[in-house]
This record gives sequence, structure tokens and C-alpha cells, in this order.
Amino acid sequence: MSFEINARTVLLGLLGHPVAHSVSPYLQNKLAEVCSLNQRYLAFDIADEEALEDAVWGGHAMGVKGFNVTVPYKKAVMEFLEETDPIAQKIGAVNTLKWEETGWHGYNTDMSGLLRALAYDGVEIKGKNVVLIGAGGAANAALCAALEGGAAQVLILNRTVSKAEELAEQFSKEYPFIPIRCMGMGDEFVSYLDTYGNDWIALQTTSVGMHPDVHGLPVSDDAFYDHLSVGYDIIFNPKETAFMKKAKAHGGKAFNGLRMLLFQGIRSYEIWNDVTISDEIAGEILKGMELAV
Ligand code: ATR
Repeated sequence: MSFEINARTVLLGLLGHPVAHSVSPYLQNKLAEVCSLNQRYLAFDIADEEALEDAVWGGHAMGVKGFNVTVPYKKAVMEFLEETDPIAQKIGAVNTLKWEETGWHGYNTDMSGLLRALAYDGVEIKGKNVVLIGAGGAANAALCAALEGGAAQVLILNRTVSKAEELAEQFSKEYPFIPIRCMGMGDEFVSYLDTYGNDWIALQTTSVGMHPDVHGLPVSDDAFYDHLSVGYDIIFNPKETAFMKKAKAHGGKAFNGLRMLLFQGIRSYEIWNDVTISDEIAGEILKGMELAV
């Protein structure tokens, strides 16, 4: 049953810039509808960091239950928090705010969203060799997922090696028993992969291949794809990226980022409402999201 908006409707929202193409309002409002909760979720385009501060405190003044926070404010919003959960601290970014009695508490659901998406797709990270492509904001949560998921090792492959090294440095103290190596696109990464066989899981976190750059490939060497059993792309538009096509053509499985998006949103919803959303409900919402993007 879905509720008409009335005087008791609870408000949640997304803070970011830009937000016009976000799928989160669809996802969150659908979840509330399926769970018969009288709440609505709106996207707020926040011009700058000053407006972010106003939105965060103004939101509280108006009784907003929680926010998602997206680019470019995932780090900046942390200064307004009373508490930050340990995973968000490790990642250094927050995408979910919930008001708890005396202040905003911050969470990062990108990591758990990716782990649940992998599990949903039947991809086991534990004990596997993982190659992470990219070292930007999205790579942060993906590296954390690989380490939390118990990967045997992680190779970070990035155009700018120094950024990969910074990322490795950030996490190696927290996960000292999992080797993290860094290489650039000009390095001998294929022979490195080859040393450990053909069962690598690739997590593709760059924006290369995203619409309209539909032919863009983050790694151009064909031999790279021979070593993958799974190619997981965080991009979901197009539905099948050039990277996914390559992974499949070389005998691997490939998945896009829609389920990661779905499950990070579901985790935020679970935090706000203290509920658990089943895979059955998730699957139902996913069908709608596929049509919405
Ligand atoms: P963020 O995710 O922090 O916003 P970004 O600028 O979107 O950062 O870049 C994300 C990742 O995509 C980075 O790893 C970036 O590589 P560099 O560290 O070398 O900048 C990678 N990336 C973006 N465009 C790329 C391209 N055309 N070729 C290869 N890698 C690219």
C-alpha cells in the first residue's frame, strides 16, 4: 500500500551536485511503497559547501529522518557528524546520514552494497585474487569491499600509479595480512596476473566506458581479459559496457553496477528504518530500476 502525502509523512533526501539523473528517489520511494511506510525521498541539488551545511542543519530543524550524500560532498559532510561508523572512517567518505537523538551519524553503504551485490550475483571474493581498476572515490569503497570480503590479494591498476599507492597506503595498515600491489597501465601487469592464474576478479571503478563514452576501455590489452573469471563494472549506463563485453568474450562472467547501486540504497534504507530488506524485495525493485535507468 502506498500512502498519500499527509501531515505525518516523513522526509528523507539526497544531497549532491548534480542530482537530476539520480535513481535514488525512484529506489527509495519504491522501497517505502513496498514496505508501506509513510515517507518520501527527494533529491536536493546543493550548490556548494556552505549550502551543504545549511541543508544538513536545516534538514534536522525540519525533522528530516536521514540523507544520502553523493558527489561532491561525501567527505565534506563528515565535519557535521556526531559519530562516524568504522567502515566510513576507513573509506574516508560518508554517503548516509541518520539523525540519532543528539546528532547526525554517518555511514558508508557503498562497501556493503558492493559486497551484497557480489553475493547476490554469486561472486565469491573470499580467498580470491582481485584486480581493482582505478584509484578514485569509487575505488576506495571497492578496495574496502575486497579487503573486508577476505580477498587473497589486491592488485590496484591505475593510470596514475601514485594515486594507487596512496590508496594502498590508506588501507594497508587496516588490513596488514592482505597484500596490496600497485601498477600503472604501462607496467607488466599481465605477467603479474599470469603468475597467479586465470581466476582473477576485476572490479572496474573508473568512469571509462560510461555513457556517452560507450567504446571506452579502462584496460586495452586483450591478454588482461584472459585472466579474469569475473569482470564487475560499477558503471550501469550502458547496461553492458565495453569492459563487460571484453570480459565475456574472453570467457569470464560480467556484471554492471546496478546491483551495487541497489544494495547501497537498500542498506541506507535499512539503517534509517531499522529493517531488513530481503533478496526477494530487492529483486522486485531491481526490475523497476532496470526500466528507470
Ligand atoms: P573520483 O572517482 O575521485 O571522482 P575520477 O577523476 O572520476 O575520480 O577518476 C576515477 C578513476 O578513473 C581514477 O582512477 C582515474 O585515473 P587517474 O587516477 O589516473 O586520474 C580513472 N580515469 C578517469 N579517466 C580515465 C581515463 N581516460 N583513462 C584511464 N583512467 C581514467
